[in-house]
Amino acid sequence: MTKLSVTDKKIDTILVLDFGSQYTQLIARRVRENDVYSVILPWDISEDKIKEVKPVGIILSGGPNSVTKSYTPRAPKIVFDLNIPVLGICYGMQTLAEQMGGSVISADQKEFGHAELELINESKLFHNLNKNINVWMSHGDQVQDLPEDFNLAASTSTAPIAAMEHKSLPIYGIQFHPEVTHTENGKDILRNFLFDICNAKTDWKMDDLISSRLDDIKKQVGDEKVLLGLSGGVDSSVTAALLHKAIDKNLVCVFVNNGLLRKGEANSVMKTFKDNMNLNVIKSESADIFLRHLKGETDPEQKRKIIGRTFIDVFDSEAAKLKDIKYLAQGTIYPDVIESSGSESNEARVIKSHHNVGGLPEEMKLDLVEPLRDLFKDEVRRMGIELGLPEEMINRHPFPGPGLGVRILGEVTKDKTLILQEADSIFIEELIKADLYDQVSQAFAVLLPVKSVGVVGDERRYAEVIGLRAVETVDFMTANWAHLPYDFLELVSNRIVNEIEDVSRVVYDISSKPPATIEWE
Ligand code: XMP
Repeated sequence: MTKLSVTDKKIDTILVLDFGSQYTQLIARRVRENDVYSVILPWDISEDKIKEVKPVGIILSGGPNSVTKSYTPRAPKIVFDLNIPVLGICYGMQTLAEQMGGSVISADQKEFGHAELELINESKLFHNLNKNINVWMSHGDQVQDLPEDFNLAASTSTAPIAAMEHKSLPIYGIQFHPEVTHTENGKDILRNFLFDICNAKTDWKMDDLISSRLDDIKKQVGDEKVLLGLSGGVDSSVTAALLHKAIDKNLVCVFVNNGLLRKGEANSVMKTFKDNMNLNVIKSESADIFLRHLKGETDPEQKRKIIGRTFIDVFDSEAAKLKDIKYLAQGTIYPDVIESSGSESNEARVIKSHHNVGGLPEEMKLDLVEPLRDLFKDEVRRMGIELGLPEEMINRHPFPGPGLGVRILGEVTKDKTLILQEADSIFIEELIKADLYDQVSQAFAVLLPVKSVGVVGDERRYAEVIGLRAVETVDFMTANWAHLPYDFLELVSNRIVNEIEDVSRVVYDISSKPPATIEWE
């Protein structure tokens, strides 16, 4: 069996050099969907680091800059010295053209959206594809003159040089985005690059991955004990399941019930891990402490800080009771550690604020175990399913660390928490029933800090207002409000006002991000 590990150089790797595109991670995920391993590094990473990766191919991502300006990012020289295939996408193509002697101009109009690509000359990149392809464009600049030794491969009506390839070397540039689903045949184009051009091997497979991760964990921690803050979220749950399989009772989990979780969530976490999987889980019933600390506070940032600090205090005091712990496990995943272009290196082992254990007693001196550190969320989910975790847990929408604390606007009280849990649970239950849950990226209810008048029978009711929020997004950085059917919203609204006495009105949030954020606080 192939030994798979990030440090194992036998594994074929595609390097995605990041020029700052919002799609960079998507490119790397699309590569991995083809069972080929990929890593992302910023465009200005050292040449030594690139050599260390030993890529079998390099993809230059898009980016927000213009190569027509001086001092904008360029591909490091080593990209061309390694004699391996290179694919430039959008900005990646423009810098490729510019660096190889072609010219790029700023087009009068930014092209954004669908375009019809016409293949002009045979190219391995478009092997076996139709002559006309509907592609997704998003650019301001375009290549005006081909570099010497390059052939034109394809055009659109507004970009005469929409794809190009070197006459003898495996160097390609495309102006459009093959990684987004709006590009017809985008998958085929990437597959042509991976398999026909890079001859990449499909070594990145889930089965092999789990067994090699188990070996890695055993090797790292031996017979020592490992502590894990279990939140019930996907990342910490999969980390728990993996570590349990590797070291069984030497994994000690601490689950803090802060009283700000969704309805039934605390019980379902305990049921899954303690009752069904027999994990060593210590449950800290701390709702009262959190409520006490939050009393009277209405400022969103202060509320977040209080919840974060209280979490650390509770977690630390539970951890301090444990003996002989040597390691701390974290569900850090790849997007948490990717160095993005232009940013300071965050390779440093940042402790996720969500599982914030930054205040652990000094004398514990724990080393970190992060078995999901190089995985994308969809890979973590696949691993969770393979490890036998319940699908509802794995496919659940994201939930913020401060929980309902940032969905109860204004002061958090126990009564409000119960009302919100009930309303949220009705919304989610109906989304699942209507087969809409998986079609939206995140959906939840919020409790507004105003009351409104309603009538029930002949009686006037002055009660709470619930806001419903549902969004569609790829990366949670931008999001559109989900156009849920009116009939569906009516059903949810009726159920909420009829079943929850303390609610008199339901509103639906029709703001996208930006300018609104997904959460209300
Ligand atoms: P916003 O509200 O910033 O949210 O548009 C983007 C995504 O992040 C989640 N979120 C959080 N997750 N701790 C977390 O673990 C937090 O403090 C936090 N705040 C927001 C939010 O639910 C959405 O998925």
